[in-house]
Parts: sequence; structure tokens; C-alpha cells
Amino acid sequence: MAAARGNLPPGPWSYLIGGAETETTVKRNRQALDSIALRPRVLRDVSRIDSSSMFLGKKTRLPVMLAPIGGLESIVDGGGAAAARAAAQFGVPQMLSSVCQPGLEQTAAAADTVRVFQLYVRGDDAWVDDFVRRAKDNGFRAFCLTVDVAHYSRRERDIVGRFVKPWRARAVEGAGFQAGLSWDHVKRFKDKHDLPLIIKGIATTEDAEIAVQHGVDVVYVSNHGGRQLDHGLGSISVLPEVITTVAGRAEVWVDGGFMRGSDVVKAIALGAKTVGIGRLCGLGLAAGGPAGLVRTLELLEEEVRVCLGLLGVTSYAELTPAHLAPALPANPPDTFSAFPLLTLP
Ligand SMILES: Cc1cc2nc3c(=O)[nH]c(=O)nc-3n(C[C@H](O)[C@H](O)[C@H](O)COP(=O)(O)O)c2cc1C
Repeated sequence: MAAARGNLPPGPWSYLIGGAETETTVKRNRQALDSIALRPRVLRDVSRIDSSSMFLGKKTRLPVMLAPIGGLESIVDGGGAAAARAAAQFGVPQMLSSVCQPGLEQTAAAADTVRVFQLYVRGDDAWVDDFVRRAKDNGFRAFCLTVDVAHYSRRERDIVGRFVKPWRARAVEGAGFQAGLSWDHVKRFKDKHDLPLIIKGIATTEDAEIAVQHGVDVVYVSNHGGRQLDHGLGSISVLPEVITTVAGRAEVWVDGGFMRGSDVVKAIALGAKTVGIGRLCGLGLAAGGPAGLVRTLELLEEEVRVCLGLLGVTSYAELTPAHLAPALPANPPDTFSAFPLLTLP
């Protein structure tokens, strides 16, 4: 964290860590994770632990995915391609954002990743179809529509810092299409395309049900890391009801505030299949490029393994909600409250 802070100019730093308006949703993501305690079982021979998982039919080293980050090129040299190299080297999937440079083709060519593509809809149906074709042609295994961005939020750190993001123009172009999206577009996608469809930005059980009824393959519970709607619930507090509603008819993924191995374990114990990391990924890249992100993932893996072992399980299949209990957070929640020893420069 401190290295990332030291390496980034104030604008990109605020862009990476900031959220919408009062940043209440950002804090609630951490608060919700910190409000879950772990219930360990003992004397269960945990000398061998398998912390690998499956992602869309492919084995991955952790049940963790690099969440899409637009503008990565302002955080690390090489942008999305740098993230792809780290993902491939460590062995986790990458979800590439459509507003991330150097773009779909070059990022795919940069490394042999397990990859999925995330689109901000900034054009008409033909425009979307073209992205689907390019994603397929370049080995992306699934297609994601992010749907919690009907309007771009007020990010007050950026406004106060007068930070004009170089990629913002790309994001704004065609913004009307994003505001005009409806479930009809999801239906059209499912009718027309055979790539698995992920809907990112589901934050209620009601929308999870509608998504499943539309044949969506992955319900991705997310509040965009608290960067869109302020005063939302913490992501992991929504997860149990979504898992119940979806009832195995689709995979459920989640992100929002995940910084530690124990955070990942909590989500998997509740029934999520994959956990997305956004800021943690950006911080690793800012700290040391692809090598910094690989090191971040190694630390995360070590935390996951220690957590599983101390819970008395040797694989995710043995985890259940009975390993969790409600608790009061021990620290005031914020983006960095998972690292209480951290002092930023
Ligand atoms: C700097 C930054 C840029 C992001 N850009 C995108 C994007 O282009 N598309 C998208 O769907 N989500 C985007 N997100 C949201 C992430 O994919 C993810 O939902 C969120 O970061 C998870 O929360 P976390 O940062 O607390 O891990 C972005 C997040 C950050 C921090």
C-alpha cells in the first residue's frame, strides 16, 4: 500500500481508492466483511490444503479474479496487459474492462490468461455484437455487462482534486446507451450469443431472480466498490439472500472491499464461486507492476491457506455458513481498515 501510494501521483491515487459522494458504500463493504466472525473447528488433520478452485471450467490457483478496472494504464505501465501478465504468471483469471488500454486484442496477446471481457455499453446493438465477436476471436471465455452505471456517479475526490481522467472521455462517449439499458437487452444478448453472460452490479435478491429468469450464467454481486450508488449495502451482506434466490441456477460471484484471505474465505463459505479484487489489484500493480501484483496474490494465497487450515478445513467444499457468525467490527471501517498497521506516506 505504502509503495503504491508513493508511486502514484495524487490524481490516479484518488481515482483508485475513492468512491462516490460520502463513500458510505465503500466503508460498508469493509464493515460488512468485518461484521462476520469465523467459527473454527479443530483436530481435523489440515496438513494438506487445496486452495485452488474452478473458474468457468478452468482450474485456477485461487477462487479470485482480477476485477475490471478502467484506466489501468494510468496506474501501471502497460495497463491491462500488465495485469494480464500477472494473472497468467500467478494463475488467476482476469476480467478486462472495455475502457482499459491497450485494448482487447493487445491485452489478449500479452499473456495466456483465463480471461473474460467486461463491456460498458456505449453504442447500439451492432456495436455490442462487434465486441462479442472480438471477444470470442481473442479467447475471452465469457462476456460481462456492468449494469450499475446507468449514470456516472459523483466521485468527490476526483472533483476536489480537479483530476481530469484521460480515459473519462472514452467513458462518457455514448453514455446514453448505458442509461437506456434494460432487461430486454439481456434477453437479446442471450437469444443471439452463445458466450456465457455475466451481469455485474446485482445488489438485490429481486434483480438476482430476474437475471436468472433471463438465463444469465453468472450473477455478479457488486456495488462497483462503492464507486457508483452511495449509501448502498455492503456487498457481502447482500450475498446470502442472492445465493438463496439463485439456488444453484447460476454461478454467483462477488466483489467489494475484499482485501484479505479471510475475506475471500467468508464469501466462499456463503456460497460465492469467485471473488473479484479491484483496488487490491490496482494497489499491487501500482506498487510493483506485474511482479507487485503477483506478490500481492501470493500473500492473499498464504492468508487463504492459513485461514482454511485454522478453520479446520482442507478445501472449499468443506466450508459452510456454519463456519461464520455475526460479530461487531473491531475497527472503524474504511478502504484500508484491513491493514491496521499501515501508515501511508
Ligand atoms: C480504479 C477502478 C476502476 C474501475 N473500473 C471499472 C470498469 O471499468 N468496469 C467495471 O465493471 N468495474 C470497474 N470498477 C469496479 C471493479 O470492477 C470492482 O467492482 C470493485 O473495484 C470491487 O471493489 P474493491 O475495489 O473494493 O475490490 C473499477 C474499480 C476501480 C477501483
